[in-house]
Amino acid sequence: MTPREKLLAKLADKSAVIGIYGLGYVGLPLALRFIEVGYQVLGFDIDKSKVDALAQGRSYIEHIRLQKPVRATTDFSRTPECDALIVCVPTPLNKFREPDLSFVLNTVDAIVPWLRPGQVLSLESTTYPGTTDEELKPRVESRKLKVGSDVFLCFSPEREDPGNPEFATRTIPKVVGGTTPACLEVGLALYRPVIEKVVPVSSTRVAEMTKLLENIHRAVNIGLVNEMKIICDRMGIDVHEVIRAAATKPFGFVAYWPGPGLGGHCIPIDPFYLTWKAREYGLHTRFIELAGEINRTMPEWVIGKVMEALNERGKALKGSRCLVLGIAYKKNVDDMRESPAVELMELLVKRGAQVEYSDPHVPLFPKMRAHHFDLKSSALTPESIAAFDFVLLATNHDAFDYALIKKHARLIVDTRGVYLDPAANVVKA
Ligand SMILES: NC(=O)c1ccc[n+]([C@@H]2O[C@H](COP(=O)([O-])OP(=O)(O)OC[C@H]3O[C@@H](n4cnc5c(N)ncnc54)[C@H](O)[C@@H]3O)[C@@H](O)[C@H]2O)c1
Repeated sequence: MTPREKLLAKLADKSAVIGIYGLGYVGLPLALRFIEVGYQVLGFDIDKSKVDALAQGRSYIEHIRLQKPVRATTDFSRTPECDALIVCVPTPLNKFREPDLSFVLNTVDAIVPWLRPGQVLSLESTTYPGTTDEELKPRVESRKLKVGSDVFLCFSPEREDPGNPEFATRTIPKVVGGTTPACLEVGLALYRPVIEKVVPVSSTRVAEMTKLLENIHRAVNIGLVNEMKIICDRMGIDVHEVIRAAATKPFGFVAYWPGPGLGGHCIPIDPFYLTWKAREYGLHTRFIELAGEINRTMPEWVIGKVMEALNERGKALKGSRCLVLGIAYKKNVDDMRESPAVELMELLVKRGAQVEYSDPHVPLFPKMRAHHFDLKSSALTPESIAAFDFVLLATNHDAFDYALIKKHARLIVDTRGVYLDPAANVVKA
């Protein structure tokens, strides 16, 4: 049997061992799905605390529960035990807002010395078109292994909507592209047993670009509704009411919601992977830049609305007491990455406000690369709410008691359109 035939047979009879590299928001649920279907999984991460937690059957992600311990290691020399190597490590931007592929390349460089014939390597991290071909393929081939006959190379972007109970890893269709037709065949054989609908595309570049288009589509449309919010505000119209009404159109309109800025690991970051790559082709990604410009100004715009509302009440922002409600980047999750609430907190402190926060999903302000607040989540009681000069509603978690907040807050600045009806103590921003 050829390496391809052996690998296909192991994937089909579930004797294949699945290695997952990077056990975060993407890697961990994927590992659990392979386990659920009956594969043996071996997780790899450089963070020993995650490996230890999994060995104890403990999850470190709020919405993920473990039924039993998950096998994981920090020892990449165990790579030969695995038949499939799925890479789900971060792809952030560096300080010049350019792609930082160091996590992907470090992982691949740690894997390459241990590659053997009959393995499939699938990259899931979001990246620019050409990454798999230009960065991964030469590294794999440096081991004198032929891609397409010894080792198989794929790109299959992750799609996740954390906190959305309607979609699970199994039910979210998955796009797969391979470096060669044999790579695609193996990629389909890898994912079909665990994902209900696998969508083959003609190349890894198409798969890479598909993921970027999805996220650019969101970033641009969120930029549009944020601009609409500013225009509506000036005209005295509630943009949320407008969007709710427009969304009753059964075709040709998709509702996107404005907010205090962009958050999360994907939407504020991924579009700029394309911006960077497009420069190589002498092209400017104008929609991306414009949406980025609008979305990035939102926190300052919100602070402007806060100052205006305080001013009308004869107060200054400086010296005022503020409670930020919800600091995760979106509702019902504990993920703080790129959360606009953090930028709001920093802008408030810079202008002399005393800031506290309340977030049932984030009991302690976490360690972040670029931000620090020595704070823990404040409990919400009638007295505690009334003690603040204003409440800034940054993230609309379902767990908040909005009626209680409205009843006792002196002023609420609502960036999420939670309070539809006009009220003397509610200002929309
Ligand atoms: N979170 C999402 O909703 C989402 C959705 C779609 C796509 N993505 C993409 O998936 C990728 C991973 O995102 P995530 O949210 O899971 O990130 P994450 O930060 O939650 O997890 C990444 C994990 O990789 C580990 N890691 C870092 N370097 C490593 C290395 N050299 N070897 C092994 N492990 C290493 C980290 O310790 C961490 O546990 C990113 O490219 C992201 O853009 C994320």
